[in-house]
Amino acid sequence: MAGAPAKVLPRHVAITMDGNGRWAAARGQTRAAGHKAGLAPVRMCIQECGQRGIEALTLFAFSSENWARPAAEVGSLMGLFFEALETEIAELHERNVRMRFIGARRNLPVRLQARLAAAEERTAGNTGLKLQVAASYGGRWDIVQAATELARACASGAMRPEEITEERFAKALSLGTLPDAELLIRTGGEQRLSNFLLWHCAYAELFFTPRLWPDFGVTDFEEALAFFASRERRFGQVPGQRAP
Ligand code: FPP
Repeated sequence: MAGAPAKVLPRHVAITMDGNGRWAAARGQTRAAGHKAGLAPVRMCIQECGQRGIEALTLFAFSSENWARPAAEVGSLMGLFFEALETEIAELHERNVRMRFIGARRNLPVRLQARLAAAEERTAGNTGLKLQVAASYGGRWDIVQAATELARACASGAMRPEEITEERFAKALSLGTLPDAELLIRTGGEQRLSNFLLWHCAYAELFFTPRLWPDFGVTDFEEALAFFASRERRFGQVPGQRAP
């Protein structure tokens, strides 16, 4: 609409997709069926972010702590990731999406690791949405692996401890040079970070909704974006100090 103010969009949206198990239980279905139903909102969010020109989307698919779930559920999730990559990769590539995976990938099944690497390689040159899928990921793990990398560089003489800045540290984290998460969405009613992107959510706006992930639809996503646009982001300054 001519003259309408441009909506303030987050550069980077992060989503904790919670509630698949409860969604399935409410229907007398298996938890695995709930996770499978969670693929539709994944597709929707990728599409919405791409169409709106949002730079980055990071999805929390499997946490470091999720390994403690019953073996059958872990197995079904690994199978789902493996199959979803096979069925979705062509369309993601078509949509110009660049895919990356973050997390302790050596803990994942070997054949899944190979598929992740192939998806990354195939989409590496794409210039559209930067899509990160966090699998076997924990924010503390991420910080420790970055600290280890920098400690090694210092021990080898490649850098001096005084050269460790916030910027240099962030580059060693698994998101590298991507912008911080500006909007964190969590479905399923819980209001906590659960070890997701601890560094990158330092100034994120937090949007919590009771909606269970498989039910998360376009209007919910729009509600989260409207919530973001309505926030005054102060970054430690006083009201009105920052230019809009
Ligand atoms: C948390 O809900 C959800 C997960 C641990 C899995 C998320 C995975 C998907 C949505 C599958 C598709 C993802 C990709 C990117 C291929 P929960 O099981 O903790 O639900 P509950 O709290 O109701 O038990």
